[in-house]
Amino acid sequence: MEDRVIRDTFLVFGAPAIEDAEIEEVVASIKTGWLGTGPKVAQFERDFAAYKGANYSAALNSCTAALHLSILAAGIKPGDEVITTPMTFCATVNAIIHAGATPVLADIDSLTMNIDPLEVETKITARTRAIMPVHFAGRPCNMDALMNIADRHNLKVIEDCAHAIETRYKGRMAGTIGDFGCFSFYVTKNIITGEGGMVLAQREEDIARIKMLGLHGMSKDAWMRFSDEGYKHYQVVECGFKYNMMDLQGAIGIHQLTRVESYWKRRLAIWERYNEAFAGLPVTLPAPPEPDTRHAFHLYSIQIDEKRTGLKRDAFLDAMTARNIGVGVHYLSIPEHPYYQVNYGWKPEEYPRAMLIGRQTVSLPISAKLTDTDVTDVIQAVTRSL
Ligand SMILES: Cc1ncc(COP(=O)(O)O)c(C=O)c1O
Repeated sequence: MEDRVIRDTFLVFGAPAIEDAEIEEVVASIKTGWLGTGPKVAQFERDFAAYKGANYSAALNSCTAALHLSILAAGIKPGDEVITTPMTFCATVNAIIHAGATPVLADIDSLTMNIDPLEVETKITARTRAIMPVHFAGRPCNMDALMNIADRHNLKVIEDCAHAIETRYKGRMAGTIGDFGCFSFYVTKNIITGEGGMVLAQREEDIARIKMLGLHGMSKDAWMRFSDEGYKHYQVVECGFKYNMMDLQGAIGIHQLTRVESYWKRRLAIWERYNEAFAGLPVTLPAPPEPDTRHAFHLYSIQIDEKRTGLKRDAFLDAMTARNIGVGVHYLSIPEHPYYQVNYGWKPEEYPRAMLIGRQTVSLPISAKLTDTDVTDVIQAVTRSL
């Protein structure tokens, strides 16, 4: 293996693979002059639902919007409680707050890093209305246990599938098990539209309400009001939001989706190379996927325990950056952030498993765009930094 020591250019963490087909489709969209929500978004919704084996889908401008509107469509009201994980991006918790509900955290399982159903059970009160599990890094949550809790307590389940487009759990696709599944096509995600999101729902009326709430609360198909079939009046039936996806984004998504499985295979190959290369190092590697599940391999995170490595996690992050390798932290646990400490009184120590992961974890690049040489550079940088 050639020892490159330090690569010449910075390897951006989570850089997307963008190919000619989507570039041409975007240009074609611009040339039609129809930039906003239109036929490309409708096609992306259909194609995504077909890939997931779902009946109802709504494209929006982010997963955050998808989570927010799913909570509203679930009928959750101010004062209601929604249980989620402390090991997630802030958007999961913020969406609960935006909907006027109260977020409640349940600690994770240290091995899977997913919400622990036993912890969820202890957090249920008379005000609990929903559980919002996050399939962390693309590893499915223990959905049998979570759906069982939801059934017993009459709770809605909103799956945060931002990492989990390709994830399966016992033969079912992530996002089709609970009442709602919310997906992200942000630039670092498994397939991208720049910014973008999608909701899948079990019930047609929920998707209809989400589409309406995503476009100002205007009545059905208001986006077609300027078409050549003549001007159509619309009616505002709720106070909605401006969350619609543009055709420029749909144009990218249609072509990215055709490669979702080949990109997944590429990330699997990178995951396996990392596992092999790091097997002898004093770091903790990701747990293998559970039987009868499919991991989406969205994040490859190693745990840097100072007692084992002699190196602090943040020093390792700096060492990787100095070697021109972009790294990430997914995530500092939610209670580490001042907003939640001040407004909810949360302390990191109250969720010790998420706290520990958040203080030790480092995500290495695993996007389908990486070349074999990029992967070699990451491996060498990790080995030399430790
Ligand atoms: C777990 C999780 N939930 C929600 C989101 C929000 O996604 P978006 O950026 O599409 O709003 C993200 C994005 O990083 C995420 O990682």
